[in-house]
Amino acid sequence: MTTYDFTGRTAVVTGGSRGIGYATAALLAASGADVILTARDAARADDAARTITDSLPDSAGSVTGTAAHAADPAAARAVCDTAVDTTGRLDILVNNAGTNPAYGPVTDQDPALVAKVFEINTTAPAVWTAAALAAGLGTVGTGAVVNIASIGALTMEDGIGVYNASKAALVHLTRQMARELGPRVRVNSVCPGVVRTRLSEALWRDHEDTVTAVTPLARIGEPSDIADAVAFLAAPSTSWITGANLVVDGGQLVGTVGH
Ligand SMILES: NC(=O)c1ccc[n+]([C@@H]2O[C@H](COP(=O)([O-])OP(=O)(O)OC[C@H]3O[C@@H](n4cnc5c(N)ncnc54)[C@H](OP(=O)(O)O)[C@@H]3O)[C@@H](O)[C@H]2O)c1
Repeated sequence: MTTYDFTGRTAVVTGGSRGIGYATAALLAASGADVILTARDAARADDAARTITDSLPDSAGSVTGTAAHAADPAAARAVCDTAVDTTGRLDILVNNAGTNPAYGPVTDQDPALVAKVFEINTTAPAVWTAAALAAGLGTVGTGAVVNIASIGALTMEDGIGVYNASKAALVHLTRQMARELGPRVRVNSVCPGVVRTRLSEALWRDHEDTVTAVTPLARIGEPSDIADAVAFLAAPSTSWITGANLVVDGGQLVGTVGH
């Protein structure tokens, strides 16, 4: 068993076929939750669900993979409805799917690409939360939404300003939703630092030592580091935490000072 006990609870994790979403789906299921993970690609979602299931004991929760684009409100509704239809409840929504295709100065961007970044990183978490509410999130016990933002939301960086602005907006949106959805649903965010995943490869592959050098805890993050923070914020034991933002970065935000 893990530190957490989500037995009898149901969770939806967007972008769960690899990286942080995969680790989160695996930890929630290992802790007893029935999990639906999504990805754009059905085969990748299915494979991930099967791999997680094969790695877990019989006492773990179930894991199902389904294709659902984060920007598709109908898909959001279908996934959340399915969660309630198959398990009778929906307790946890992890808005994890994210994208970062717009590089360079913010004044030198294709507006359509900027709109896409905000659609996936900022609007989609609100759309999925609305779908989860409509399906019944938090009607059996308190619901928990955890949004995956980034330490880029809290600092300035060259090259990925559009992405960082979309994540800063997500942190603000988290606080706004916490205000609007209590006491039925708690809403919190996590700001990861550089984590070893495909999305962030440009930030660590070939120069992991450089990142480690400005990280007080002397390593880059692993997806499981973020999964743990998500489970913490979704757990019944944090029932008085809402509107919070948890930085999980090995100290990278403070470590960059002076460099
Ligand atoms: N890695 C880091 O250093 C880091 C740091 C700060 C924040 N984050 C945030 O953490 C979250 C997870 O990122 P990651 O690093 O784990 O990325 P990743 O390893 O690239 O995984 C992304 C996951 O999301 C799915 N996905 C991508 N676009 C999607 C869409 N439009 N609709 C539905 N699913 C989609 C992918 O599957 P398909 O390709 O099959 O759709 C995959 O399962 C993101 O919000 C990211 O911004 C990451």
